[in-house]
Amino acid sequence: MSSENSSTDKPLNLSQRPRRLRRTETLRKMVRETILTVDDLIYPMFVMEGEGQKVEIASMPGCYRFSLDLLIKEIAEVSHLGINAVALFPVISEDDKDDTGTESYNPEGLVQETVKAIKKAVPDIMIITDVALDPFTTHGHDGLVDENGRILNDQTVEVLVKMALSQAEAGADFVAPSDMMDGRIGAIRQALDAEGYINVGILAYSAKYASAYYGPFRDALDSTPKFGDKKTYQMDAANAKEALKEIELDIAEGADIVMVKPALAYLDIIHQVKINTNLPVAAYNVSGEYAMIKAAAQNGWIDEKKVILETLTSMKRAGADLILTYFAKEVALMLM
Ligand code: PBG
Repeated sequence: MSSENSSTDKPLNLSQRPRRLRRTETLRKMVRETILTVDDLIYPMFVMEGEGQKVEIASMPGCYRFSLDLLIKEIAEVSHLGINAVALFPVISEDDKDDTGTESYNPEGLVQETVKAIKKAVPDIMIITDVALDPFTTHGHDGLVDENGRILNDQTVEVLVKMALSQAEAGADFVAPSDMMDGRIGAIRQALDAEGYINVGILAYSAKYASAYYGPFRDALDSTPKFGDKKTYQMDAANAKEALKEIELDIAEGADIVMVKPALAYLDIIHQVKINTNLPVAAYNVSGEYAMIKAAAQNGWIDEKKVILETLTSMKRAGADLILTYFAKEVALMLM
């Protein structure tokens, strides 16, 4: 009998001993409140032009920009590992960028062609496409910009609608507006319905903060804004009520899933959103959160696998039903 189980001469008189339920792994599994599974995960992936390309992103070790041929192979593999959905981000060559992001709604653009090819090769995987102009604009902002450098809301929404329609036409299952313009969810929903895409869903980046944690992602896409910052459209990190307002609006406008982004520094927001809505809640474990864990692990300072699982479990415990994470493939392998 283990010493923990044996009584002493004079035990404390305690009516509750929470440690009883932590005594063995079997018991701990029985009373565990949050179980992370592969079904919770959405894999963000980067696609680039060309063939035979698999280029590692310096600030995101283990993440790559894939050309379409290799992306398809990778997606077949992750689908085999049980991952249900991918979120696509394109790396657009400078030649195809302009001030207004016209390439974003090219029916034969990189994203549109990628969606068609995935649908053919791996029909079961859910495809989520990003709706925002930053990968396509020379200035790197998510919207159209006037001569004074201001981001134009309503004019941008018109372009986003074209972009979302072209993605739906290509076969996207969900469109995911990540731009934070006002009214874009409603405008996109109406346009999708009018064109007959009633089953294409909207994963709304509802509470998206102006965050320094997006740095490595902007390296990946070469999409760092050429001037200013994104604070006139993305949210102030200090605000929580505003997140609930954004969520409420997006739901009223027709969102199917709402998202909080980033995740780790915003667990309280995830929690509040979960309590305040009946829709599924997604959280985006963003590039900077990924990079911090990778960097510490590469230095031998943390146990990488354990930290990954603890971090993602914290997001689920906070209320996330779905987690977009660059760790998706690694975690799928760990949970097998
Ligand atoms: C842009 C977009 C960003 C991310 C997803 N979509 C960056 C930004 O807003 O500048 C960040 C994702 C990440 O950091 O992992 N529409």
